[in-house]
Amino acid sequence: MEHITIYIQQENFEFVPLEIPLGVDMSLMEVLKGEEHPIEAICGGMALCATCRVEVLNQDELNLDEKSDSELDILETLPCYTGNCRLTCQIRVSKAIDGMRIKFPEQVFA
Ligand code: FES
Repeated sequence: MEHITIYIQQENFEFVPLEIPLGVDMSLMEVLKGEEHPIEAICGGMALCATCRVEVLNQDELNLDEKSDSELDILETLPCYTGNCRLTCQIRVSKAIDGMRIKFPEQVFA
């Protein structure tokens, strides 16, 4: 099965790859939660809680969909708002995120 790979930054700044099969109709939030990464997703993917947010470290290299108004509204209220934060519930698994490098908010605040 065809797959993509994203890279998750660890506390020691190394990146650990995560392979995700293509053809699954899931959000990145659902994938990360399923892999037991620190994603709470309290609102269940409604773009309301921001507990699914990550910082996308190489956003400029990717061809991601523009942030929706509801995603922008909530990201702008957060102290981690750097222009690179995204709600993973608003990102679908597709070739567009192949090679994405992310880190979780704990490291944003560190
Ligand atoms: S799960 Fe709540 S904003 Fe993404």
